[in-house]
Amino acid sequence: MITCDSLVYQPFQPTGDALACDGVSIQSIVEHAGTPTYIYSARAIREAYRAIDEAFSAYPHAIHYALKANSTLAIVRLLRSLGSRADANSGGEIKVAERAGFPSRDIVFTGVGKSREELEYAIAQGVGTINAESAGELDRIAAIARAQHRVARVAVRVNPDIDAKSHPNISTGLKTNKFGVPLQEARSIYRARRDTKDLQFAGVHIHIGSQITTLEPLRRAAAALVSLALELQDDGFALEHVDLGGGLGIAYEGRPIINPADYAGAVIPELRRIGLPVVLEPGRAVVGHSGALVARVVDTKCFPDGRKFAVLDAGMGELIRPALYGSFHRIVPVVARRGGETAWDVVGPICESSDVFARDRMLTPVEVDDLVAILDAGAYGSVMGSNYNRHMLAAEALVDDGTWTIIRRRQTLEDVLALER
Ligand SMILES: Cc1ncc(COP(=O)(O)O)c(C=O)c1O
Repeated sequence: MITCDSLVYQPFQPTGDALACDGVSIQSIVEHAGTPTYIYSARAIREAYRAIDEAFSAYPHAIHYALKANSTLAIVRLLRSLGSRADANSGGEIKVAERAGFPSRDIVFTGVGKSREELEYAIAQGVGTINAESAGELDRIAAIARAQHRVARVAVRVNPDIDAKSHPNISTGLKTNKFGVPLQEARSIYRARRDTKDLQFAGVHIHIGSQITTLEPLRRAAAALVSLALELQDDGFALEHVDLGGGLGIAYEGRPIINPADYAGAVIPELRRIGLPVVLEPGRAVVGHSGALVARVVDTKCFPDGRKFAVLDAGMGELIRPALYGSFHRIVPVVARRGGETAWDVVGPICESSDVFARDRMLTPVEVDDLVAILDAGAYGSVMGSNYNRHMLAAEALVDDGTWTIIRRRQTLEDVLALER
């Protein structure tokens, strides 16, 4: 039994002596799909989405799934079928959300550094809200809206200088981070544009980071945002929502952490001070546990000092989180060989010493051609894939109701070279 947070459904469990996804044999999937392949559980996504929805059931809320976590079309469509709305971080993500069936008005457009073309597209489509990152961006939005004879619905993203106590690379709410406008300047930015006919100030926005595993930063961020919203109401702004962003962490290491009910319990009392509907933008907490990257061992080696390496056919080109943030992922042989556990460095095939999934990981004996599953890879996994060393993007498969389908075929060299001459 693979355990983690007991409240979270764990799709990857042994069936007999081999690992399965929702009871479907991983070996049978990779027999057809090859390796490396991302395998996702639709059930895990449904359950994670519902857990957030239920946690907030006592308060008016809208969940805008953050496509940046995983924007494979079939996954985005699945979220749409569950009633989710969308949070898009680029013009590309807006178009994927639309392709997946989201009406433009159900999309919030977030993200630092939106290009003119992206803003023109978002405004022309009539996206629900554009979360502006600076006073300059607000003014560019107003100018584009005016040129299109439209009114753009906006919120300003504030940076409250709150430490999310996550990894520095995924903390976004400190004054040293590039995101948002300083909280203390936000009110004057709204006020200075109160009479701008091209803008409708629909809300206020905050997002202090990702993989947040303690409640206090999330509660403080909600408190700061609600206080700002109350001041803006005093100034006459007819706000329609407060947007708390995403950030809820998941239990990568098997130790229970905060869950959606804890999160709701921490922020709803703050939200009740204003009573406006809340927009949530969860990504990782929706899809993180749903996916595993399944790879094959292509080499093993043992150095004279006893260090053992298992070299996989997947590396930082498929899942960059360990190399980028030193992130921990559980690694499980698909069929465990008999024998005691020993320490292995599990590494990829890429020509970088940082291409390491785990150091000194205790594993049962590993041999060439064995399959291993790198768990909790559903978020910020395939979306960050690259062709470095001319490796092709992995295939992706979705398990649902006892069967599986390929939702993204493996990239071919022809696909890649089609862009070149
Ligand atoms: C503005 C915004 N909203 C939502 C998210 C999703 O965050 P998470 O996947 O941690 O829930 C992010 C990710 O960093 C973000 O930048």
